[in-house]
Amino acid sequence: MTAAPVIRTEGLSHFFGDAASRAQVLFDLDVEIDPGSLVILTGPSGSGKTTLLTLMGAMRSVQQGRISILGKSLTGLQGAALTQMRRDIGFIFQMHNLFDSLTALQNLTMATHMADTPPDLARRNCLALLERLGLGHRVHHKPGQLSGGQRQRVAVARALVNSPRLILADEPTAALDKDSGLEVVTMLREFAAQDGRAVVMVTHDNRIIGLADRIMNMVDGRIVSDVRVSEAVNLSMALREVDLFARLSTAELTQVAEKMTTRRFADGEVFVRHGEEGDMFYLLQEGQAQVMVGENGQQRVAVTLEAGQYFGERALITGETRNATVIGRGAGRVAMLSKEEFQQALRLAPALPEQLKRIYFGR
Ligand SMILES: Nc1ncnc2c1ncn2[C@@H]1O[C@H](COP(=O)(O)OP(=O)(O)O)[C@@H](O)[C@H]1O
Ligand SMILES: [Mg+2]
Repeated sequence: MTAAPVIRTEGLSHFFGDAASRAQVLFDLDVEIDPGSLVILTGPSGSGKTTLLTLMGAMRSVQQGRISILGKSLTGLQGAALTQMRRDIGFIFQMHNLFDSLTALQNLTMATHMADTPPDLARRNCLALLERLGLGHRVHHKPGQLSGGQRQRVAVARALVNSPRLILADEPTAALDKDSGLEVVTMLREFAAQDGRAVVMVTHDNRIIGLADRIMNMVDGRIVSDVRVSEAVNLSMALREVDLFARLSTAELTQVAEKMTTRRFADGEVFVRHGEEGDMFYLLQEGQAQVMVGENGQQRVAVTLEAGQYFGERALITGETRNATVIGRGAGRVAMLSKEEFQQALRLAPALPEQLKRIYFGR
């Protein structure tokens, strides 16, 4: 699928100051943000994250290069067209910028006046959203009567209330405790997954990085790394349940996950064949697999494996040939790890190889 990116920047550079004090803060950035993604932008203070975010949100004019949002170029966009564009974007700033004289609910309903929602419906949506963010008992409080975390959640609700196609968030969890931080990001995660939307979020919060589809790291105005993580994260969570790797740390599991490749399989596909040399370890992600034992013509199903279970490890550990045939049942998906990487992973858990040899060689 090649859906148009929600955001595309081409050759984007930015400068602050003039004449002698002119300093370049963004350097020739080419970035595409896919629909459905939650992208995390990290990097040291002063690296240009906020500048990039405000450019993407049409909050500041493009000086050099191009940006298009939802297929529309920001170049030369003014007046009503610019306002219309901003309606499709929800912002959550580091400094929540709520109106101090309005209640939480009023801050939200005020934002809906920009859109063309009937007032009654708008009010109900706003209440539901505040409820969902754990602010049901605070809807008539003004920002000054709320804690930092509560104010931040009002700001999040306000960004979501018009269901924009794009959300740009600058450290949205900075003022939140662990639980409400996770709650907010989980909402943003769900939001991103709907109808080809996207979220770009600046954060330093390691606890929520696991929810991202992609992590971009920025240093001195350049993107120095850009990793699509969801696959690796999903895999490392599955690997965590594999007894062979039980002693590995989260970082080590992630390393192993990054070495794995995944593919879909069809019903009846043979993964390993009795008597062949072993070259691969398999982790079943979806569907089932049957382990067949016995000689030709006399084969029987020894066990049916389900998602989360693995096979193919024995030959890699003992060096013997495959002692069973394994066949895919139903359409599914497997993740595979080469023999070398598998053995390397086992070495990360020092006591394990010896233990395994005892198990597999019958002590
Ligand atoms: N309005 C401004 N005027 C002049 N320099 C600015 C302005 N905003 C940011 N900068 C400078 O641009 C660089 C990038 O800032 P910023 O985008 O805020 O970084 P980050 O969000 O990663 O901390 C920094 O060196 C900062 O001092
Ligand atoms: Mg910043």
